[in-house]
Amino acid sequence: MNNYIIYTTVLSLFVLISLIWLVVALFRRSPSRKIAGAIFAAEALVLVCFYFFYFTPRRFPRNYLTAYPPLPATLAQTATQNGFYIGAAINRSANPTYAELVPREFNSIRPENATKWRRMLVNGKIGKYDFTEADAIVDYAIAKGVRVRGHTLVWGKFPGRTYPKELDQRIAETGDPAAELQQILGDHITTVMRHFKGRIKVWDAVNEPMSMDGPDLDKNIFLNTLGKDYIAAVFRMAHEVDPSVQLFLNEQFGNYTGEGVEVFFGLLQHLKESNVPIHGVGIQGHNIFKTHNLDEYREFLTRITDLGLLVEITEFDARIRLFEDSDDPYQAQGDYTTAYAVACIENPSCVGFTVWGLSDASTWFDSIPPFRWMLPNDPLLFDTELRPKPAYHGIKIALKRRQPR
Ligand code: XIL
Repeated sequence: MNNYIIYTTVLSLFVLISLIWLVVALFRRSPSRKIAGAIFAAEALVLVCFYFFYFTPRRFPRNYLTAYPPLPATLAQTATQNGFYIGAAINRSANPTYAELVPREFNSIRPENATKWRRMLVNGKIGKYDFTEADAIVDYAIAKGVRVRGHTLVWGKFPGRTYPKELDQRIAETGDPAAELQQILGDHITTVMRHFKGRIKVWDAVNEPMSMDGPDLDKNIFLNTLGKDYIAAVFRMAHEVDPSVQLFLNEQFGNYTGEGVEVFFGLLQHLKESNVPIHGVGIQGHNIFKTHNLDEYREFLTRITDLGLLVEITEFDARIRLFEDSDDPYQAQGDYTTAYAVACIENPSCVGFTVWGLSDASTWFDSIPPFRWMLPNDPLLFDTELRPKPAYHGIKIALKRRQPR
């Protein structure tokens, strides 16, 4: 996948330069225009072939269908017996057949979108809530004795999708932006936490506080208006509404070392030193453009738990195309996923491993470019026909070795 990005960018640059050369040569009627034309055509052809190569759906052997003997207990049973949460993100459109996997295989869920701020508002109007979709998912889980992780009280990226666009307007128009934002945030957190009181006992208080562009905090409306202590303020407000709820800081990492990671640990340190009621860190664990360095990730987990914090993997998925060079991509994907989960299972302060979807039949990768054209994505624990994949077996076996906290 990394190769995909590198090749596309480099080739596109060459095509662009050749195009500029061609246009200039044509304009000046220079004799080099024929050479420029030929080079441009050749490069464009390679680019097109390249696109076809990556965007042609693949089929990989499914050796796992015969490789694993069925184990009597389900994943959820094994997890519950060993004091661990195995979760999946679910959404309203989840087909009832897929939803049947909860509670059989998962003892925890996360609403994929239904408990996001913007999603719970009628026409994006601040303060006008409609909890129908969220309640349906949450009550489904509760009725079956499944834990619900709330996702998420505050998320500053993607205005209008994660938080209501109206907020930008309100803050721009008011004479006292900080007071206005505190008020709106307080109302939102109070309303939502009270609504789900007793049903959602763990929330991602803040999602993705880090910037995607560099080693820094994300400069969103919350940071720009309240300063970096907006994060502490959200945790404090939430804790005041319901001190029994566990509050997590949730973040996606492509790398587990480097400057961005140090900024993140600086933030955690600051929150701890200021006695902010933070209980844990959620590591999203999406494998989007590449797989992660597992040694660095294990070390990262230890660093978090050494701070006295809980940790959970909250949105794991790994696209099958990241393993396409292997002889048996599904097995390689399973080995990698198992190793990723095991690092958590073996750390007593890591309390859950959640995958971002119930089965390969429904994954966010199938709807976002460019992955919607790079099929299959198949990033989860069950295949499109709900058959368990290699990581399912690997994780189940590892759970039996889980040490209690
Ligand atoms: C994604 C959902 O899966 C999509 O359906 C939606 O369109 C966009 O959001 N990090 C997060 C999740 O914290 O909330 C995102 O979920 C994926 C990245």
